[in-house]
Amino acid sequence: MSWVILGGGGLLAGHLRRALGDLPVRALPHAACDVTRPDAVAAAVRGATVVINCAGFTAVDRAESEPDAARRVNVDGAAHVAHAAARAGALLVHLSTDFVFDGRAAPYRTDAAPHPLSTYGRTKRAGELAALAAGGRVLLVRVQALYAADGHTFASRIAAMLQSNANGVRIDDSRLIQPTWAPIAAHQIATLARTGSAGAFHLGCAGGTTWAGFGRALAARLGVPPTFTAVPTAALAALARRPADCRFDHAALLAAGVAVPSWEEGLDGYVASLGGGAAR
Ligand SMILES: NC(=O)c1ccc[n+]([C@@H]2O[C@H](COP(=O)([O-])OP(=O)(O)OC[C@H]3O[C@@H](n4cnc5c(N)ncnc54)[C@H](OP(=O)(O)O)[C@@H]3O)[C@@H](O)[C@H]2O)c1
Repeated sequence: MSWVILGGGGLLAGHLRRALGDLPVRALPHAACDVTRPDAVAAAVRGATVVINCAGFTAVDRAESEPDAARRVNVDGAAHVAHAAARAGALLVHLSTDFVFDGRAAPYRTDAAPHPLSTYGRTKRAGELAALAAGGRVLLVRVQALYAADGHTFASRIAAMLQSNANGVRIDDSRLIQPTWAPIAAHQIATLARTGSAGAFHLGCAGGTTWAGFGRALAARLGVPPTFTAVPTAALAALARRPADCRFDHAALLAAGVAVPSWEEGLDGYVASLGGGAAR
């Protein structure tokens, strides 16, 4: 088998690379393959048996002011990758998000009707449809609230803030999420893709909390006070609307025999991964 990861310089791609271990994987960062260029994509996936599209315009708030840029990557890029993968006869692993939902019908099964609230969510939903329309075999995986020690994630910022004892940072305490340590999502994707699974899956960790709840649990594990201010979503006045509750139903994943640890177990893994060094 020959595996190609596009958007190979991002957070999830790095963990996927590690989760795939000894397999022959080429991870191509943005500079090596721009998914908005069909010629570059076709050359990159030629001969591949599995293509994982981790490329994305992932700045949720910035997408509100740059919708065309978001669309070029999340929709047009997704279509280029899907067509190239279909032509190569490869399994396409397409990454999507909980933000395709409006947050009013959690826990979300994979067959729930999408209704995105933001430009990012709309472009990601259109990207899903483009991936499915290309005619190849597609493993559509939705993830949410990823974090890791090596990425510029919200959790990394919370960890850094807790360890520097900064006060006054406001963190959302309304929106229900399933924080997911990136290595867990990567392992779930690797498990599904290795077995050639196609179809739609909701990935991540079980249970649910808010980012402030996550911050309190992290502070307790780090042995530091939770020096932030927990606020309702509306107080943050973010540019993009976010769904109030996008917890996933993981039934499809469990039925495929893939483990779904709790978010607290994921957090334990993350804290252990920080070792004695400073959190990032
Ligand atoms: N992180 C989460 O919590 C989360 C939640 C739901 C869904 N997802 C989805 O999971 C996937 C991976 O996300 P991630 O967290 O790993 O995000 P990430 O760290 O932002 O990675 C995305 C990567 O895409 C690259 N990229 C952007 N435009 C590109 C282009 N035109 N061609 C090729 N590469 C391009 C970026 O490179 P540059 O930075 O160099 O442009 C970046 O390395 C995305 O589809 C995202 O929508 C993530």
